[in-house]
Amino acid sequence: MSDLLNGKTAVITGAASGNGRGIARRFAEEGADIVVADIQESDRLDGRPTHEMVEAETDARATFVQCDVTDLDSLHEAVGAADEFGGIDVMVNNAGIVGPQKLITEVEYDEYRQLMDINLDGVYFGTQAAAKEMIDRESGGSIINMSSTAGFEGNPMITPYSTAKGGVRLFSYAAAADLGEYGIRVNSVHPGAIETAMTKEDMPTIGTEQGDQMTAETPLRRLGVPEDVGNVAVFLASELSSFVTAESILIDGGLTNTA
Ligand SMILES: NC(=O)c1ccc[n+]([C@@H]2O[C@H](COP(=O)([O-])OP(=O)(O)OC[C@H]3O[C@@H](n4cnc5c(N)ncnc54)[C@H](O)[C@@H]3O)[C@@H](O)[C@H]2O)c1
Repeated sequence: MSDLLNGKTAVITGAASGNGRGIARRFAEEGADIVVADIQESDRLDGRPTHEMVEAETDARATFVQCDVTDLDSLHEAVGAADEFGGIDVMVNNAGIVGPQKLITEVEYDEYRQLMDINLDGVYFGTQAAAKEMIDRESGGSIINMSSTAGFEGNPMITPYSTAKGGVRLFSYAAAADLGEYGIRVNSVHPGAIETAMTKEDMPTIGTEQGDQMTAETPLRRLGVPEDVGNVAVFLASELSSFVTAESILIDGGLTNTA
């Protein structure tokens, strides 16, 4: 499309699939080299690995690193994999699961822990790993943390998810305060319902009555696609947002602020 991210290297967790894949594709189209860091190599819906798709369809270089964001060494390895392309400039802490969909009184400790380990601790320590490297490189950088509209409002039946996503928003503000003096910006993004395996399989919304109702209530009269998330991430990764940090951006067609 253009070259907003020329010369930059991005590490994106959970980029094998869904939103992370959409972000990887848009970053690559803008000239960034990509490290896909995920527990699985293949897209959950179409099966094709993101790094192969990126190399086939753009001029960018891409690699896959097996990474579990609940494991610190694994996160550091993912960040280190960016050295192959000149070192990390952008970190996207995107990996996440929807977790238990039940009343708060039914949630088991272990399922709560698993959700928090991935969706909140994974973001915290992914930010930390990237920030250490960016500070060492004296290069500044942009860190983009994946939250959700659930980080702004209290949705029923997904209390662990909401807890983590609210945490991601406030953590990102606090990290921005710590890291600004090093030229590192930290922002969070907050998608509404986006068409991915999560909304098609794990918590079916797209194509359901609930999805249709959300569409009708959304000012822009549609639900989202991963490219919508990728476009906002391009802005946050690029110099276009050079004075933007500690910001949280809704990507929901206007639903949250008009409901
Ligand atoms: N789809 C939506 O409507 C929506 C809305 C708001 C926020 N989000 C957020 O977007 C992010 C991506 O979700 P998605 O909708 O693309 O779902 P998805 O299931 O398509 O993608 C999630 C990816 O994360 C990976 N992953 C899961 N656990 C991991 C771990 N421990 N370590 C590394 N990778 C791991 C999966 O393998 C998968 O590739 C999540 O943080 C989710 O909460 C999604």
